[in-house]
Amino acid sequence: MACKKDEVDLESLVADIAQSKKYRHLGICEDTIRDLLAAELARHSKKSNAVKAARKKLHEVVAPYLGDLDYAKASGDLAAVFQTARSDTIKQTCAQTMQAHTTTRERLPVLAEFYHRIFQITGQPAAVLDIACGLNPLALPWMELPAASRYYAYDIHRQRVDFLNYFFSLQGRPPLAKLQDVLVDHPTEKADVALILKEAHRFERRQPGCTLPLLDALRVRYLVISFPTQSLSGRRSLAQQYRQLFLGLIKDRLWPVTEIEFENELVFCVDKLNT
Ligand SMILES: C[S@@+](CC[C@H](N)C(=O)[O-])C[C@H]1O[C@@H](n2cnc3c(N)ncnc32)[C@H](O)[C@@H]1O
Repeated sequence: MACKKDEVDLESLVADIAQSKKYRHLGICEDTIRDLLAAELARHSKKSNAVKAARKKLHEVVAPYLGDLDYAKASGDLAAVFQTARSDTIKQTCAQTMQAHTTTRERLPVLAEFYHRIFQITGQPAAVLDIACGLNPLALPWMELPAASRYYAYDIHRQRVDFLNYFFSLQGRPPLAKLQDVLVDHPTEKADVALILKEAHRFERRQPGCTLPLLDALRVRYLVISFPTQSLSGRRSLAQQYRQLFLGLIKDRLWPVTEIEFENELVFCVDKLNT
């Protein structure tokens, strides 16, 4: 049975969590907190149990265990290296910065071929949506996109989004990183390619069945969706489990899929229009 709506002040519960010691410095998107609380309040009859469950889910979504940056230091390092205008040292500093977050760190050994192989399938995009981007926009120097291309990036950490917009400004790009929960508010920008890297399985854990409506809504020709192939401890292979999960999610769509397997990441390039 759900908590009674008139006994719950949802906005004050949202503010309590947003301003808590754990989350205040990160600036977590309030839509995310509201959405998780609303789902748990509908599931529990006791408010305290609902709040506890929402906090647990938020911990999974925000994933502090994946690591984070010292943003002030990283901004300073990047500003200094962009002044040199040397592409090798810029790449070195971007790679160092990407070390801070598990998902981008794991991709570093294959970064040189990662986007090359993906864009061989999708063609070089003039516009990209980086969905639940984390620090992945720092891989832009490896993507070799034209300066005029548009790179939209979405994340639920205010600090991360501000940092990415600063990074874009160093490159002379427009500040197209947005604080947006892509499950609550599907992106509406048009692009050639949407990158949904290493997050779809976590979307499904947050709210089973939420990924397909997002994939349907994205206004792009190609969806590039990836999954980790090793557990965080490195002990378990996850490739077959996530292949089944993904192919199951899109089983009712007639989308042609090309699979690429990298050392520790399984990538599906989906052609949404060619059906
Ligand atoms: C596991 S990391 C993946 C980062 C990146 N896609 C990559 O593969 O390098 C997940 C990132 O997605 C963000 N995120 C999680 N749920 C989100 C949502 N519903 N909307 C937007 N961003 C989200 C998190 O804040 C985090 O930065």
